[in-house]
Amino acid sequence: MSTTLSIKNKSDIFVGRVEEGIERFLRGERVIVITDANIDRLYHDLVGRYEHISVGHGEGNKNLVTVQNIYSQLLEMGADRSTTILGIGGGIVTDIAGYVASTFMRGVDFGFIPTSLLGQVDASIGGKNGVNVAHYKNMVGTFAQPRFVISDVEFLRTLPERELRAGMAEVIKVAIVGDRELFEFVEDNLSASSYTDHILMQRIVLDSARLKADIVDRDECEKGVRRVLNLGHTVGHAIEKCSRQFNHGEAVAIGLWYIAQLSHRLGMLSAEERDRIGSLLRRVGFSLDMPVPMADVMREMRYDKKRSNDVLRVVLIESIGSCRIVEMPLSELERYFTVE
Ligand SMILES: NC(=O)c1ccc[n+]([C@@H]2O[C@H](COP(=O)([O-])OP(=O)(O)OC[C@H]3O[C@@H](n4cnc5c(N)ncnc54)[C@H](O)[C@@H]3O)[C@@H](O)[C@H]2O)c1
Repeated sequence: MSTTLSIKNKSDIFVGRVEEGIERFLRGERVIVITDANIDRLYHDLVGRYEHISVGHGEGNKNLVTVQNIYSQLLEMGADRSTTILGIGGGIVTDIAGYVASTFMRGVDFGFIPTSLLGQVDASIGGKNGVNVAHYKNMVGTFAQPRFVISDVEFLRTLPERELRAGMAEVIKVAIVGDRELFEFVEDNLSASSYTDHILMQRIVLDSARLKADIVDRDECEKGVRRVLNLGHTVGHAIEKCSRQFNHGEAVAIGLWYIAQLSHRLGMLSAEERDRIGSLLRRVGFSLDMPVPMADVMREMRYDKKRSNDVLRVVLIESIGSCRIVEMPLSELERYFTVE
C-alpha cells in the first residue's frame, strides 16, 4: 500500500515501496546520488545504479567544505542544469544534498530517499535545506522543495536502535504540535518490537509526514504557523552544540521535556499532560536530565536564529496536539529554566 501527499503541488511525498517510487518519479534523466558510506555499503544495489558521491558521517560534515567538495565533483562529472540530484540517506545527507541541489547552477531538480526514521518523518519534508557554519547550526540554507520524497519503512530494518529512538523524538514532537491521535497511537502501541512492524511504522511515518506537509503547505517559508515545528528545538540545538555526545533526536527529546515543564510552570499545560509527555519520552528510551550545565545551554540559546535582540520566540505547549508561539525575554527564560 502506498500513499502520496503533496506540498504546494510541487513536492510529492510518497510513502510506500522504494521501487514503485523510483518508477513513478525518475524517468530516464541523468541522476547523481549524494549519500554516505553506510548507505552505500548497505544499499549498494540501489546507490550503485547511479553515479554517486559519498559524504562523511556526522553533524561535523554538514558544512560548506563538504558542499564545496560536492560542487567540484559535480563539475568534474559534467553535471548540468538537467541533472537530477538524489539524496539517499539520513537527515544529514538530505540537508546537504538539498542545499547543494538548490544552489548548484542556481538550482537543479532534486529528490530524496530518506533512510532514517528522523529523515522520513521530518528532515526530508518541507524544503528547508541547510548546513552549519562554524558554531551555528543550519545557519546557511535555502527554502526549495524536493520534487519528490520516497519514504520506504523497509530501510528502518537496518537502522541502529539509537537512530530509531532519535526519529521517535520528532514523531512525538509533531504529535504534540498538532496530532493528539498520533500521540495516543504511539502511547498505545509502542513496544520493543514496534520498529520492525511494517504496518505500524508506515502509519507513524505517514501521519507525521501528513501533519508536517500540511503545515508547510500553509507556510512554506516559515513566516508564521510553520514555526511551531521548532518545538523543543531551541533547547535541543543548544544541547547538541554543548555536547557532541547527543544526536539530534536525543537533544530534541530533552528540549521537549524542558518545554513541557516550562509550559506547565507558565500555567498553560496541565501537570497530567506534562507527565504523559515525559513518560512517553522515557518509554522510548530517552534520559531527560539536562546533560550539560544550564548556563552553557543559555549561552548557546543566545545564538539561536529565532532570537531578535534579547527576545526569543519560544513554542509552548497548550495541550497535547496544540502549541502556541510566545516571545520571551532570554532573562525570563533563564529564570524559569534555572529555578528548580
Ligand atoms: N531540513 C529539515 O527540515 C530538518 C529537520 C529535522 C532534522 N534535520 C537535520 O537532520 C539531521 C539528523 O538526521 P538523522 O537523524 O537522520 O541523522 P544522520 O543523517 O546522521 O543519520 C544517522 C546515522 O544513521 C545512518 N543511517 C541512515 N539510514 C540508515 C539505514 N537505513 N540503515 C543503517 N544506517 C542508516 C547514517 O549513515 C548515520 O550514520 C540533523 O543535521 C538535523 O539538523 C533537518
